[in-house]
Amino acid sequence: MLVLGFETSCDETGVALVEAPLVGAPRLVADALHSQATMHEAYGGVVPELASRDHIRRVLPLARQVLAQAGRRVQDVDLVAYTRGPGLAGALMVGAGVAVALAAALDRPALGVHHLEGHLLSPFLACPPPAFPFVALLVSGGHTQLMRVDAVGRYDLLGESIDDAAGEAFDKSAKLLGLGYPGGPALARLAESGDPRAFALPRPLLHSGDLDFSFAGLKTAVRTQVGKLGTHLGEQPRADLAASTQAAIVDVLVAKSLRALKETGLVRLVVAGGVGANLRLRAALDAGAARLGARVHYPPLALCTDNGAMIALAAALRARHGLADATRAGAFDVRPRWPLGDLSRPVDT
Ligand code: KG4
Ligand code: ZN
Repeated sequence: MLVLGFETSCDETGVALVEAPLVGAPRLVADALHSQATMHEAYGGVVPELASRDHIRRVLPLARQVLAQAGRRVQDVDLVAYTRGPGLAGALMVGAGVAVALAAALDRPALGVHHLEGHLLSPFLACPPPAFPFVALLVSGGHTQLMRVDAVGRYDLLGESIDDAAGEAFDKSAKLLGLGYPGGPALARLAESGDPRAFALPRPLLHSGDLDFSFAGLKTAVRTQVGKLGTHLGEQPRADLAASTQAAIVDVLVAKSLRALKETGLVRLVVAGGVGANLRLRAALDAGAARLGARVHYPPLALCTDNGAMIALAAALRARHGLADATRAGAFDVRPRWPLGDLSRPVDT
């Protein structure tokens, strides 16, 4: 089965082709991505209308590029997948519109994929893929969640952020430090030349005894430190504050993930979402999990942030597991039943 996937939920236009044999691991055949980061940088964040217009400009050329790269014709596509939410309404409409129209023209099914399920299943594009069951740490720009995953479509929420997500903590702290957009990678870069012990920042909910997170207080603490330093916010204190912020976020994510492994008795941890690209987080998770005799699985580094491959892959896995109810083109309100609060809403904008 050849799946063409479209991701247009925010500021990246991603298109990919995934080949999913009836048995065996699905394979990424070709993918293309256009990031709008430089376009939004001047505004310090994503401007929704500009994002939608750019998706419109990019989506078809990227689709042609992917098909050419794979040496396949559009008629070879068996299933068209797209991100149905959560995300920016206008941006989502571009991917959904193109995917559903294409599916109708080809007389193939169209399948709307939950963006977070795309992230969650993206480590199945790595080698070796994880085996079920596992604990998943989902750390995207807007969500921080720990889940128990028993199979495709069987997700139990163990804990989540009660306010800001870890990605938001990175982005908002980066903004306070005068770094550009997107903030996470910029803060991580600056942190490399800083001392993570220079500032004693809070580790919110570290000892709360549950698997929930809270990062809003950390951002406030960073703001307080920036205010105290005032005009003395020179290069080294900035780097030290960046390193201390990153260390606080990493400490909490690692402690809660290890706690989830211990509580569930599982020995595999899957990490997905943009913050999963953070190398300090990866090193600390690897070391912590190894102490428990557990193993950590990540998507390939380039597939941590938004991309079309994860959408095509999630659609392929859902279809293969018979969960898809892959609909004929036009009916794109496919609702996976997840006991995950906002994850179960059809299109969450
Ligand atoms: O999953 P994603 O690409 O988009 C959403 O679905 O939200 O995640 C984006 C988030 C942003 O908050 C970004 O700053 C963060 O991932 N991020 C990072 C790194 N790369 C991306 N945070 C820390 N370190 C990184 N290397
Ligand atoms: Zn994402």
